Parts: sequence; C-alpha cells; structure tokens
Amino acid sequence: MCGIVGFTGTIDAREFLLDGLSRLEYRGYDSAGIALVQSDEASELGIIRVKGKIADLREAVAESDLSGNCGIGHTRWATHGIPSEANAHPHRDCSGSIAVVHNGIIENYAQLRSELIAKGHEFLSQTDTEVVAHLIEELYSGDLLAAVRATTAQLSGSFALAVLHASYPDTIVVTRNDSPLVLGSYENGALVASDIPAIIEYTRDVIYIGDRDMAVLHSDGTIDCYDATGVAFAPKTHHVQWDLESAQRGGYPDFMLKEINEQPRVIRDTLAGRFDSATGELVFDELPLTAEELAAIDRIYIVACGTSYHAGLIGKSIIEAWARVPVEVEVASEFRYRNPIITPGTLVLAITQSGETADTLEAVRLARKAGAHVIAMTNVVGSRITQEAQTVLYIKANLEIAVAATKSFLAQVALLTLLALHIAQQRGMLSKEQVSEIYAEMQMLPEQIEWILANSDQIERCAQECVDATTALFIGRGVGATTCFEGALKLKEISYLHAEAFPAGEIKHGPIALIDTEKGTPVIAVATQSMTREKTLSNIEEVLARGAKVVAIATLGDERIHEMTNLVITIPPISEFLSPITASVPLQLFARAIAIARGCDVDQPRNLAKSVTVE
Ligand code: F6R
Repeated sequence: MCGIVGFTGTIDAREFLLDGLSRLEYRGYDSAGIALVQSDEASELGIIRVKGKIADLREAVAESDLSGNCGIGHTRWATHGIPSEANAHPHRDCSGSIAVVHNGIIENYAQLRSELIAKGHEFLSQTDTEVVAHLIEELYSGDLLAAVRATTAQLSGSFALAVLHASYPDTIVVTRNDSPLVLGSYENGALVASDIPAIIEYTRDVIYIGDRDMAVLHSDGTIDCYDATGVAFAPKTHHVQWDLESAQRGGYPDFMLKEINEQPRVIRDTLAGRFDSATGELVFDELPLTAEELAAIDRIYIVACGTSYHAGLIGKSIIEAWARVPVEVEVASEFRYRNPIITPGTLVLAITQSGETADTLEAVRLARKAGAHVIAMTNVVGSRITQEAQTVLYIKANLEIAVAATKSFLAQVALLTLLALHIAQQRGMLSKEQVSEIYAEMQMLPEQIEWILANSDQIERCAQECVDATTALFIGRGVGATTCFEGALKLKEISYLHAEAFPAGEIKHGPIALIDTEKGTPVIAVATQSMTREKTLSNIEEVLARGAKVVAIATLGDERIHEMTNLVITIPPISEFLSPITASVPLQLFARAIAIARGCDVDQPRNLAKSVTVE
C-alpha cells in the first residue's frame, strides 16, 4: 500500500527521502510527494507532489529550490479520492506550517471534516488524511507532541502518521495504529519509514512502536518514545539480518526474476540447522509445545491471505497425511468474521510474509481471544504479527521486493513441510528413519530448482504459445491442485490474463465449458509423479479432446506426456508431497514470461500492493 519515509539530521534530507521512496515503489502507488522544513526559516513548509512515478517527483524536486535537513515523504495508493496531485501526500493545514503523511484509513474522517469545515478550515483534497493536518492545527497550542496526541485520540481506523511543523525544524513526530512504522538512526540523523527496505542502507537496528505509541525523532539521531498517555519508555531494538543486496536488482531485469533465482538459496537456508542427525529429530527450538502438547492437538487452523493462503493449503495436505491432525485452511478475512470453533486442543497457524496483513492480524487477535495458541509464520523480524502471536517461526526468504510473492511462498511451503515432519514425529506418526529419509530428499530440492532455472527455455517456449490467450485454466490433483491455485494467481496478478485453477477431477463439472475449441484455450496441467497421476492424465485427454492447448508440468523421463502434448515442461523427479516446491518454480517463470511478452510491469502490477495493511 502507501509508503512513508522521514528524515531529520545534519545533512540534506532530499536524497534520503527520494531514495527511500524509490525503495518503497514495490508497494504500489499512484502519486508521491515530499515536504521539507526549508533551510531559509520560512514559516511555510516546502511541499512538492506529483501524480505518477518517483522519477517525476525527483525531476520536480531537482527543478525546485527546495532543500532542508528535516522532511517527510510518501507514495500514495488511492483509497479516498482519485490519484491526483491534490490528493497526493503530504497534506497540510490552512497555514501551511503543518504537513502530514499517512498510511491507513481514517474511518471517521467525514464527520471530522464537517466539524473542521464548520470551524473555518479549508480543505484542498478529497482524502481522509487531510483532516489530520487540520485537526493538529486546531489542537496546537505550542506543543506539537501534545497536539498530535490529542488529534490521534479523536481518530478511529488505522494510521501510521509522520508530522512536520515549520516551528520544529529538527523534529518529526510519528505515531501509528494498525499500520506499520519502523524507526532507526545512524550517524547523520534519525529515520522513519513504513518498511525496512527504505532504511536498511543506513541501519539494521530498528525500533517498532506499538499501537497509539508516539515517537519524536531529533536531528542528532535520538528518538524519544511515549505511550498513548504520554509516559516515556525505552524502546526495544530489533536487529534485521536482511542484506542490502536484497534491496537491489543485482543485474536482473526485475526483482521478480531475481527472487525466483534466489530460491535454491532460500530452500538451503530453510533446511539449514533443522535436522539433528545425532537424535534423528527435527529442530524447532522456537516452538514451545512439548511432544505431549503436540499429541493433544485435535485441530489446526491455518489462516492467511493470497499466496500465503495457498502455502497453507499445501501445508494442510502434508500435515494431515503425515501428522494425522485435521487441518482447516481459512482465508483470514473470512475466519475473522465468523465464529470459529476453538477448543483447548486447537492450534492456530497464521502465515503472512509481511507480518502486517490487516485481516491476518485480526484473525490472530480473534484466535488469541478465544484461547488458542497462535504460531505466526512470517518473513519480517519485529513485524506486527510477531508481537501478536505467542510463537514466531521465521521463514528465511530475506527481503522480498516484487509484489508477486515467489521466494517467500517457497520458503513458507518448505517450512510448513518441516513443521509437518516435526509434528508427525512428535505425535509418533513417523519414525526417525522415515523423517530422516524425507529430510534427505528435501536436501535435493535446491539442486532441483537450480536445474529448473537452468532449463528455463522450455518454459519460455510454452509461455510464448499462450501469450495471446484470453483465459487460462490450471488443473492438478492433490498438492498438484493447490500448486495450480498459486500458479493461476501468479499469472493473473502479473500478466492480467484471466486464469483459474481447479482440482482436475472438477473440470468436467463446469469449467470444461470454458475451453474454446477454435482458440485452443491453454490448460496448464500439473502431472508430476503422484498417486493420482493416471487420473490427471485422463483429465488431460478430456481437455485435449475439446481442443485445449495443454501445457504439462511433468517429471523428467515421462514419455507418455510427450505423446499427449508437445508443450511439456519437465522437472526432476521428487516425491509427491515435496513436488509443490519444485513444480511452483516453472509456474512462476511461466507467469513472468507471459507478463513480459504482454508488456506488463512484473514487479509492480496494477492495483496491487505488497502488504495489504487495510481491511
Ligand atoms: C500474491 C501476493 C499476495 C499476498 C497476500 C498476503 O503474490 O503477494 O496475495 O500473498 O497479500 O500477504 P502476506 O503474506 O504478507 O500476508
């Protein structure tokens, strides 16, 4: 969604603000702007905003004489009001001496706006954010921190706010509720951003503040933190391991391709240290649950959204097969609005790459309220979910920039597979020999992915055959079907080609009607080694008989599939429950190749945001 940056220090703030905003471009946005306390001691803040890209903002800033050591910046993803310069942040008060950038949604903005208009405030935008600037102006009587506190006390909804005041040339005041903010400092000053990539070049020691906490950033790099009642507290510092390289393309044409290529390393990192060959057991030191407690679990809920939800679906099949515990996978936005049955034997696993997805966070709060033990699986150290769940399992994906999740998905599936092994072993469902055999097979995965990446020309060739399609169907069975759900999501989100996935057995119960014999609708079939491969082959025959153009993901050496279609993508042999980890890779590359051929921006697909922090 929107991105926030802020800097106060001993050097010009412009470069940090513009660079920081560029690093947040991946979140998706339609307009951008910065505000600076001007060096010439003007009573008005300098503000530049543009509808469009950071490059346009950079140009506008270069053409202006705006400069200063203290400033805030924003990339806006429209919610209230069309994308336009007037609606772009920062927003200011009537006097022009207060500027505000905001992520989130002020739910009671309409009422506040009418009240402020009645008091004579003049509004220049259609946004919910502008009320914040006017409210601070209304409540300001010489103490900015107090005015911001009094303002946020009147706000309902979600917000991350950074506030600038012309009378405070060295200071930024920030606060948040249900929307992320990360703070840090280095030798030249103090920094704030909505996400780590904007500040990682300057510091890896970061501070998160809680809901309605406030912080004051000073130009000497100090940061004062206060709770909602104004009591000062010493913040906890989190050390982020991510490397700076992750925030750069490193020679790849786009982040998506870079991140797809990082997957062998991601799987190696996920596996490292998870198996103790001396004891023959999995190592899950983070998990406080004993073997008895794991044996007592009678139901697991997995809650997640989007790609993380698909990882959860794969996790369900594996956990149920190995650990013999019933698993229900729920879209977080549905789970939170019903009354899920949570008993003392219920374990809840919340999966979220960003750790900030609003619906997943709410689902976690609901589950905890109902007394469930909640395990969070996330990629982001210190993210909101890590503060809400009792137990945190970190995936080792490193920073993911492309909006379309790839390496984080593979890391989630790999960690879920290890977790399934652990639960199964602790419940006595798998022997040490079985566990070490499966773990040994998992160690082949990185090399297998490398093989797939090295043989990507076969994927490219198949993709070119489907570029002009208007719809694509994905079919598979078992974990092959759930792999297809993710394949279809990748294709539609980055190429805008309509795609749907179905369990292959379901195709004749309706979706087969979508096959256009004349045009040869593409059907992407995951037909790797599995218990149900024969059945999938029959389904492939059915769609071929109706004129479909079948692209098959098949196991190397499978001669039969080549007799059925000449569009075959082969992957190395692996057992069924590990196959989503390899079979997903060609589907990612397939989606990307189609998107590129259709002229799409694969890193920043239209209308999408990397982390969805609003409901
Ligand atoms: C798809 C994608 C989204 C996210 C979803 C959940 O490529 O990236 O569908 O998976 O918004 O995000 P997290 O995992 O951060 O909760």
